[in-house]
Order: sequence, then C-alpha cells, then structure tokens
Amino acid sequence: MKPVQAKIQQPTAPRLRLPEDRELLAFVFARFIDGEMTGLSEGHALNYAPDLASADFLAKQIRDEIRHARMYARLVAYTAPGSAVPRAGYLLKQIMAPLSGRVWAEHCFLDKAVGERWVLSLMETLIAHVDDKKIVTNLKAIARDERGHIAFGEQQTRAYAHSRWRRYYLWGLFLRVDFAMGLAYRLLRRMIQRRYSPAAAQLLKVFFTDARQGIAQHTADLLGVRLNRSFVQMLFCQLVFLLKSPFAGRFHRTPYP
Ligand SMILES: [Fe+2]
Ligand SMILES: [Fe+2]
Repeated sequence: MKPVQAKIQQPTAPRLRLPEDRELLAFVFARFIDGEMTGLSEGHALNYAPDLASADFLAKQIRDEIRHARMYARLVAYTAPGSAVPRAGYLLKQIMAPLSGRVWAEHCFLDKAVGERWVLSLMETLIAHVDDKKIVTNLKAIARDERGHIAFGEQQTRAYAHSRWRRYYLWGLFLRVDFAMGLAYRLLRRMIQRRYSPAAAQLLKVFFTDARQGIAQHTADLLGVRLNRSFVQMLFCQLVFLLKSPFAGRFHRTPYP
C-alpha cells in the first residue's frame, strides 16, 4: 500500500516561523492536546480487547498518549509563553470530536487507522513546513509512536474487513469522518484567514485538500473498496452504528486466559 503523502513539497510551499506564527502554532498544539486527552479513552477498549497481546498494546499506547500530551503542553508554553492554552470553539469541538468505535473492529478502524492517520498527516505537514528545530524534533518523536498505533489499527482492520458488508460498513463510517473534515475546513478557513498569516491559510488549504484526498485513497485501499463519497452510504452506516452501539461492547468481554 502506498504511504499517504500530501503533495506539499513544492519550492513555493509556505513556511511557518516563530514569532510570526506563534498564535497559530499554539492553537494547533492545543488541539493536539485535546486529541491526546481523547486518546486516554483508549482505556475503555481494554474491556473488549480480543486477547492479552492487544490489551498490552493498548496499555502501552495509553502511556504514549500521556507522554505526548505533556510534550504538546511544553510546545504550547514554548511557542506562546505566558499565554493561556487557546480553546477550540463549540462548533469546531463538535465536528472534531472523535467518532469512537464501541466494538473492537470499529475502535481499531476509527480511532487508530483513521483518526490517528489524520493527526499524523497534520503532524507531517507541520514537520515539512515549520522553521523551528525544537518543534520539528518533538513532532518527529511523537510521529514515530503514532505510526505504530496506526499500523496496529490497520492490521486489525485488515483482519476484520474480509466480507463485502464489513468493507461497505467501515467505508460508510469513514465517510462520516471525511465529511466532518470538509466541514471543519470551511469553519477554520475564515478564522485562519482573519487571524493568522497568509502562509497559515495556504498551508491549511494544502492540508485539507491534498491530505484529505490522500487519506481517503489510503483508506479505500486499506478496505479494498472504491473511493466513493456517497452521502447515502454515510447516513445508512451511521444509522447502523447508532443502532448497534447501545449493545456493542457490553456482551463482548475479553476472553482473557
Ligand atoms: Fe498521541
Ligand atoms: Fe496515538
């Protein structure tokens, strides 16, 4: 499978710098902290990890996410010393809230293979476009861990998605995330144009167009389906997700030895 790579290496690519872009970088790192804190809810998945090796992986991942949250908090303090951690608006929070799976396969697909892929993609965009050694070094260290989490999620997804219905269903769940990201871009675009530098606005556009398309293609390849943005499929699979979720997980206790 081809690695996800946004087409962001043009010589004219925008650069983010300190102190000019400190507000934007602090805002992005604060959103990363939100994501890492959500990652702590990986703990719930211990209830339905299928075996001890998976439970062990989750335990290690939780330690990773706690360490990442601390590193991002230090990056916020480094980029915008003395200012409070910037908060996300209500609407943005709702859109970006992770659609966490409540059975093992949904968890591995939505949280790890898709959710963390989006985060990694944003990190890679920053690594390629930020002119600050300390920030880049920290992001590279975190990205290494995230790649491990994604690889585990993808491996579990491949093992699960062996029937046509399962592939159809997971792709429908993916579309919910994909549409949410499209909406997030519309919301963020105006705010970034108003508040931050032209380089930031250009970078955001590159990220939400190229990276979004790259992730959609990568996910379609992972599931072995055609890249098809069907609103009907998204709604139908979301309905199935909501209907079966109240029961999911409760009767799926881990058969530990
Ligand atoms: Fe993380
Ligand atoms: Fe992670």
